[in-house]
Amino acid sequence: MDRYAVIGNPVEHSKSPRIHALFVRQTGQDMRYDARCAPRDGFAAAVQAFRGEGGRGANVTVPFKLDACALADALSTRAQAAGAVNTLTFTDEGIAGDNTDGVGLLRDLIVNLACPLAGQRVLLLGAGGAARGVLVPLLDARPAKLVIANRSSARARELHAALAAHGGQAAFRAGGFADLAGDAFDVVINATSASLEHALPPLPQGVFAPGAFAYDLMYGEAAQAFLAASRAAGAARCADGLGMLVEQAAESFAIWRGVRPDSGAVLAELRRELAGAAR
Ligand code: ATR
Repeated sequence: MDRYAVIGNPVEHSKSPRIHALFVRQTGQDMRYDARCAPRDGFAAAVQAFRGEGGRGANVTVPFKLDACALADALSTRAQAAGAVNTLTFTDEGIAGDNTDGVGLLRDLIVNLACPLAGQRVLLLGAGGAARGVLVPLLDARPAKLVIANRSSARARELHAALAAHGGQAAFRAGGFADLAGDAFDVVINATSASLEHALPPLPQGVFAPGAFAYDLMYGEAAQAFLAASRAAGAARCADGLGMLVEQAAESFAIWRGVRPDSGAVLAELRRELAGAAR
């Protein structure tokens, strides 16, 4: 049986084994998918050990996405642009690295949530690894305008400078939160980790245009403070990142198995399970 795993630290709360188990049930693929915890200074050894045991590929999660990028023998264009890898495929030629986070976000927004990005004014909050991972796919979706806002405005400008060539026709800018005063957006995406510190990005009034969509890359409880504050500040629709999690997993599954699962059905099942667990 072909073996896959998610490698992280910590990894025991990862939903990826459950999501892939649901894909397997749906598609009948002959494979298993487990969670493996690697020591913080032992990612490469953990990957080689799994490969030695017959592993065919792996997802990579916090804190190893940069290590995975360095370890891969070949990188997809989108992994190169993100500077991070969440999907490894082991082949006879070596280790191929890809990044499915951005396409996962896009599929969730555009397909699942019917929130188009083309021609829209998009605000990306954060300039760390999570923001970088989704920035190029967001620009590729041809927004009219894309602004990166971050607590450290210098870091936002660095990210902007690194990826300015991908801006295309969009009005593409970066700065601090205070620089947003007077600007309104149709889609606001939270890629900061502020909620882990029980904090919120300090957004000026008027950031949410009428009918605006607020999205948090985190899911469940971690997303709720930002989404509630967005609703109070005028966002008409809100979503957490559970759909992105399922969609990035579906893209990894398709890379490995050549079969695209019905991600919508799996997302619905996962939401039912999480709601049941919360009761
Ligand atoms: P990740 O991989 O989750 O993106 P990261 O690279 O450490 O992690 O980046 C964390 C992001 O959350 C950064 O944009 C950070 O802002 P700074 O670059 O100014 O540090 C942002 N962040 C973290 N805590 C925050 C807070 N309390 N308020 C606003 N932004 C915060």
